[in-house]
Amino acid sequence: MQYSAELEKIARDLAGGDRGILAADESTGTIGKRLQTIGVENTEEHRRAYRDLLFSAPDVSKYISGVILYDETIRQKTADGVAFPEFMRQNNMIPGIKVDTGAKDLVASDGEKITEGLDGLRDRLAEYHKLGARFAKWRAVIEIDAQRPSEYALTTNAHALARYAALCQEAGIVPIVEPEVLMDGDHDIARCFSVTEHTLHTVFNALYDQHVVLENILLKPNMVISGKKCAQQASVEEVATETLRCLKRAVPAAVPGIVFLSGGQSDQLATAHLNAMNAKGPLPWLVSFSYGRALQAPALKAWQGKTDQVGKAQDALLLRARLNSAACSAGYTVDMEKTS
Ligand code: 13P
Repeated sequence: MQYSAELEKIARDLAGGDRGILAADESTGTIGKRLQTIGVENTEEHRRAYRDLLFSAPDVSKYISGVILYDETIRQKTADGVAFPEFMRQNNMIPGIKVDTGAKDLVASDGEKITEGLDGLRDRLAEYHKLGARFAKWRAVIEIDAQRPSEYALTTNAHALARYAALCQEAGIVPIVEPEVLMDGDHDIARCFSVTEHTLHTVFNALYDQHVVLENILLKPNMVISGKKCAQQASVEEVATETLRCLKRAVPAAVPGIVFLSGGQSDQLATAHLNAMNAKGPLPWLVSFSYGRALQAPALKAWQGKTDQVGKAQDALLLRARLNSAACSAGYTVDMEKTS
């Protein structure tokens, strides 16, 4: 693959300038689960209205550089009839698209997962580019337990991530490479470190083998963190130190940016961890966020599906977006949680 200055610029615009990415690419099933928590029916109009309120929050582009959309959403419009990708372009945000079709059972494994979506991907990417997408996302899911992950699950998922990334670059789209080592389980932070390090080495080997240009990707990793059920939860400082130690070993400096997923961390912890990492700079890459739940959860709760609560919901999103933006330059303090 040829290096592209245009793709590197998109990657740097997405991860730099103290801005980050809003992941709003939940599949119809997943957004249905989120809407159910506030008692809202999972209809196309409700999904559109919810996404509309997020994208049109006043001045959200001060903090949000790009938005990851789902196939349905990239074809939807604002209440005023402007296609979402066009609306984003007009408002200084870059539209992106989730192109994987989900994690399925990996054949001949003991219930591990493989992410699907390679069939027809070249044609789908061409269409998404026409619709305005300039970056994409593919998420591989790696589980930890006493036996997992197997080498088989790691290599097949890394192979698919690299196939996807090369196809994106061919189509003029920046691939976000997302190998997510899940927080589920009672493992400690040391085990998360070793699995994440091994996963990243496997992924970067596959990217190299398949001629992916590292200057033209973004990496979306998990943080190195204690399992959710681990009795001894690592501190913010420890998470920041161990995550950076792991990433420095495994992620070449040619990669322009790292945009973390939140993975089920609380909103505040996801912000505090990002802040603590950026406080340890200078770092070899831009370090920012590509959060789904950690940006959206308070907004969803404030909205409750009610038109007269849209403003409140937008304020909730803006607060999280602003604090995560502050964390990109280590300017976040817990006191800022109270200021609005
Ligand atoms: P979370 O931040 O909720 O983990 O979502 C980010 C994402 O896009 C996962 O693929």
